[in-house]
Formats: sequence, structure tokens, C-alpha cells
Amino acid sequence: MRRVLSGIQPTGQLHLGNYLGAVRNWARMQHSTDAFFCIVDLHSVTIPQEPGVIGRESLRLAQMLIAAGLDPDVCTLFVQSHLHEHSECAWLLECTASFGELSRMAQFKDKSGRQEFISAGLFTYPALQAADILLYDTNDVPVGADQRQHIELTRDIAERFNYRYGETFVLPTAVIPSAGARVMDLQRPNDKMSKSLNSPKGTIDLLDDPAQIQKKIRSAVTDNGADVRFDINNKPGVSNLLAILGAATDNNPEDLADEYRQYGPLKADAAEAVVALLAPVQARFAELEADPAETTRLLRTGADKARSIAAETLARAKTNIGFLPEG
Ligand code: TYM
Repeated sequence: MRRVLSGIQPTGQLHLGNYLGAVRNWARMQHSTDAFFCIVDLHSVTIPQEPGVIGRESLRLAQMLIAAGLDPDVCTLFVQSHLHEHSECAWLLECTASFGELSRMAQFKDKSGRQEFISAGLFTYPALQAADILLYDTNDVPVGADQRQHIELTRDIAERFNYRYGETFVLPTAVIPSAGARVMDLQRPNDKMSKSLNSPKGTIDLLDDPAQIQKKIRSAVTDNGADVRFDINNKPGVSNLLAILGAATDNNPEDLADEYRQYGPLKADAAEAVVALLAPVQARFAELEADPAETTRLLRTGADKARSIAAETLARAKTNIGFLPEG
């Protein structure tokens, strides 16, 4: 069985891009693979956080992920900071990645441009992500298109480590969905929908109620000219709506374009499809929210299972480097 691992940050609401680009595929893949999903709270502190908030957000994200279809009896769901192995392995990989490679990461350039305080951790972040992946001998990493560069870097780091110290890590591959891999902001359709963009009207949160979803899609920015066609470069707004409708209903956006003459009906159908897609997730979340102790218990079981594998891989890496054993 192939080993799958992916991660998601706990800060900010889970949005439609996270769901269509990643989480929905995780829920599908868990049944046919040995799947690990990590709430990457250590990644979130690359940007300063209010004290005390992150733990609550991690618990809430776990509930959202379970509501969205992850079954902790089928996959391994855990919180990154519960395992010291991730931080420790990240150091070994920071020493394997080069300054030049990390400098080329688009996400670093993008995020550092929006921060007043640029932490060293924001720069070395992809090495921690590589640790998340490599500790589990991962074959496949299901992510949205924005993460492709980080997965390619992970491969390069693993290859270099194996070359220097002998066969240690499995080389992973990014798995990017054909639909929903890049959901764009509804108000700024040239930017991806993002927790950090701070664009509440352009972002559909998974817990938005039907009226909010309808309003956001009705007021989505559309493009010049009234024709409906799937053309990301010239008609990014309309193409995004077609892509969302297509991903929500398992249809090809180009085929869908032929069915519409005007923006109004396209928006109405896209809103209806998103409301229907999210209704069961929201209902299940309300149940889980009422029992935080049960989610905490599930995360503990997940961390124990994850640790049994991560500890072994980290020990292998340290042995291969040749550190002096404790004796
Ligand atoms: P994060 O938390 O930003 O996003 C989680 C997942 O959602 C996808 N995604 C999108 N997909 C389509 N359209 C969008 N607008 C959109 N926005 C986000 C992301 O591609 C991602 O799959 N660095 C990662 C987290 C991470 C990770 C890992 C991922 C840490 N360790 C190990 C894989 C493996 C991140 O910040 O994702």
C-alpha cells in the first residue's frame, strides 16, 4: 500500500480552496492508502501568534478535518508539535538544504513581502515541511498546486541526504488534483484563495452559512465582456466560478462553460453547488464541536501511531550520519 502524507496549518479558517485543493482528496485517498495527515502548528509560528490561541485552533481544525471526511479509524490524524521528531529532523534537513534553494521558494518571497517581521523560521520552513514528509517514508503527497515547489525541494533534499550519508529517505511525489488545485479569491481572481490574504469577501470559509456563500458568489468579480468561457488568462473571474462549480459537481469546467450564456445563472448554480457541498460538513462539525474531549483522545492515538514511525526514521537518519550513540 502506498504511504500518503499531507499537512495543513491550523491558523485561520479552513476555506473552499483548502477543501477542494486538498482535504476532499485526502478523504478519498485514505481508503486505498496508508494515510497520515498532520496539523502543522509548528509551521504556523513562523508568523507571530497571539499567546494561547493556536491550541484552540488546532483542535478546531481537527474537528473540521474529521467533519470534512477524514476518519481517524482509517487514517492517522495528528498534531505536529506533539512529536519532537519533526523539529529534530528539520534541523538535519536545514543543514542539507542550501541557502540558494530556500531563497528561490515562491511562498517565502510572497509571505516575506507581506510581513514586517521576517523570522528565520519563515525562511527555513520548507526544511520542516520536508521533515514532515520524509519521516514517514512517504510516497505520495496530495496538495494544491501552490505546494508543488516545496515537494520538489523535499525530493532534492532527500536525494542529497541519501547521497551524503547513504540510503535513508524515500523520495516523495506531489499528487495534485485535476480539479480544484488552484481556487482563486472571488474578489481578486488573479490571487489564490488564502488564509493570509485577508480578503473576507473573496474567501469562502467552510463554515459560512448559505446566505453568506450566496452573497460572496453573487458579488464575485467577473471580467469584461459578457460571454461565459473557460479562459484563465483573459477571464480569470468567470473561469474561477466555472472551476469551483466543476470541482463541486465533478464536471469539467470547459464543458460547463457551454451551458451558460450569462454570468447570473452561472453564479446562482455555483452558489447552490457550494452550499450543497458544504452542508453535510457543517452539520457534522456542529456535532464534533460539542465533544472536544473525544477529539483530543483521537489526536493522542494519532500522535502515538505517528511517533512509532517517525522515531524509527529519525534514528535511521542519525545513525547514517554517524552521531555518537548515547551508550
Ligand atoms: P496550507 O495550510 O496553506 O494549505 C493546506 C492545503 O490546501 C491547499 N490550498 C489550496 N488548494 C487550492 N486552492 C487554493 N486556493 C488553496 N489554498 C491552499 C494547499 O496546497 C495545501 O495542500 N506548507 C503547507 C503545509 C504543510 C504540508 C506539509 C503539506 C506542512 N507540511 C507536508 C504537505 C506535506 C501549507 O502551508 O499548506
